[in-house]
Amino acid sequence: MQIGGMRFTHIAEEQVPVLGQGTWQLGAGADRRREVETLRVGIDLGMTLIDTAEMYGDGDSEELVGEAVAGRRDEVFLVTKLLPGNAGGRRKIVSACEASLRRMRTDRIDLYLLHWRGGEDMRAVVETFGELVDACKIRHWGVSNFDVDDLAELAALPGGAAVASNQVLYNESRRGIEFDLLPAARQRGLNVMAYTPIEPARLADHPVLGEIGTRHGATALQVALAWTVRADGVIAIPRTGSPRHARDNAGAVDLRLTDQDLADLDRAFPPARRKRSLEMI
Ligand SMILES: NC(=O)c1ccc[n+]([C@@H]2O[C@H](COP(=O)([O-])OP(=O)(O)OC[C@H]3O[C@@H](n4cnc5c(N)ncnc54)[C@H](OP(=O)(O)O)[C@@H]3O)[C@@H](O)[C@H]2O)c1
Repeated sequence: MQIGGMRFTHIAEEQVPVLGQGTWQLGAGADRRREVETLRVGIDLGMTLIDTAEMYGDGDSEELVGEAVAGRRDEVFLVTKLLPGNAGGRRKIVSACEASLRRMRTDRIDLYLLHWRGGEDMRAVVETFGELVDACKIRHWGVSNFDVDDLAELAALPGGAAVASNQVLYNESRRGIEFDLLPAARQRGLNVMAYTPIEPARLADHPVLGEIGTRHGATALQVALAWTVRADGVIAIPRTGSPRHARDNAGAVDLRLTDQDLADLDRAFPPARRKRSLEMI
């Protein structure tokens, strides 16, 4: 579905834009004012899902997000992540959640993710996430960096089927999830959130992305981003500290890749033909 310049998909029953904004490495440095402005420009352009984590800058990114969304909380869908180190038992989880709420100056998190699996008791995590939903401190919960087996194990736990999203590494040069994780997520009606969807070091100067960009009057990175969100059920969360780049990123939703483009991209970045373990950054 496309409204205005943005396209939408779903997390649980919730309508969310296919492009959001990441915040890793934002919030701690001297560029803070520009970063706040960038997030606000992104919101104006429809990239209203904002992803952060208690880990990023040890809370600095969550504080930055709080500042950027002040006065417009109802316009955004806030995602933050719980560190596995803080997931050891109900008391620690509730206290980490409350600290994230305080830093983001909000009374609710729209999607609360376990950042990665770190040996915690998943049954207790799921139970506590459910309690946080009941207490209206979080609206939905999910996971990050979970592979197919982890998801199956999670879904089998009491309350585990309520998982709403799995945030994983996915871009043109990292297509492993297409083999099994993406189909498995689709089968469960589970949203997939692609992190590091731009990865400039691998993609910015790629000749095929550049060539396709030239055909569409777009940049190589816009082609990469358009490709990542080409199919339903996938959201990408590019991160930038530059308002100009935020505009470029939002513009990627207008790019319609043709069958020829997709075939050229498949040749340049072949899809996975066997199971690969989930890559992480
Ligand atoms: N769950 C997890 O374990 C996990 C792991 C990694 C990341 N994440 C999340 O995913 C988000 C995105 O991933 P990421 O930050 O690793 O990488 P990314 O978004 O793929 O790439 C970020 C880099 O791209 C540049 N960039 C962005 N837009 C650009 C544009 N239009 N033109 C040129 N350069 C552009 C940025 O520099 P400029 O600032 O100069 O634009 C930055 O150096 C993170 O911020 C974080 O929220 C989650």
